[in-house]
Amino acid sequence: MEILGIDVGGTGIKAAIVETATGVLLTERTRIETPRPATPEAIGQTLKTMLDQNQWSGVPIGMGFPAAIQHGIARTAANIDNSFIGLPVAEYFSQHTGCPVYMANDADAAGLAEMRFGAGMGHPGVVLIVTIGTGLGTALFVDGHLLPNTELGHVLLANGIEGERFASESVRIVNQLKWREWGPRLNLYLTTMENLFWPDLIILGGGVSDKLHKFSPMITTKAPVVAASFLNQAGLVGAALFAEEEINRGR
Ligand code: BGC
Repeated sequence: MEILGIDVGGTGIKAAIVETATGVLLTERTRIETPRPATPEAIGQTLKTMLDQNQWSGVPIGMGFPAAIQHGIARTAANIDNSFIGLPVAEYFSQHTGCPVYMANDADAAGLAEMRFGAGMGHPGVVLIVTIGTGLGTALFVDGHLLPNTELGHVLLANGIEGERFASESVRIVNQLKWREWGPRLNLYLTTMENLFWPDLIILGGGVSDKLHKFSPMITTKAPVVAASFLNQAGLVGAALFAEEEINRGR
């Protein structure tokens, strides 16, 4: 099935048409800055532009969104406008775009792509995916099954600071942290996660996933830490896979 995958992030919105049988991108990825303030109306307008760019109309879209998404309703809004909270956001964007929208949390979407075709493919046991971007997103799988909406980027670390306010990519950039300064921060986050969930494998996605060699010497988890095979594209590939799953379930 060919589905337009869209990954809405706190900083950028990315889209490409994905072949769901293989996870391969059929078109060049397009990217537009996330509007500020990131209101439903403003993001809806940006989505329309992206649909035009991809010549996509009236057919399903898979969307990863940076919030807990419970049956299409946004429950949190850490890096987007607060007016999203409680909004049936999948339905809202369906009306806005004229395309059926299937929506999952962005990190859950990235995790689906990695478990199906990437670094977690066929991996049994507990796998934790952490996407490192504007925020910290998490997806937790047990024997390939997802526990959705884990929101573990908001866990407080031993220093009293929320994980994503200490170790996200945006914090690294804003504070101009060197890899040797940021690496121990990420390590504190990952070891905290390990002590709580004991994953067998940790997969890192997001903008820093292709820089793993720069900070991996500072990571001391017992579980192996690997980069997402889809790197920063995992979210949009997984969003398309999620849409296909939902369509096959008759939703
Ligand atoms: C949000 C999550 C999201 C993550 C990555 C967090 O601030 O609460 O829902 O997965 O950022 O975008």
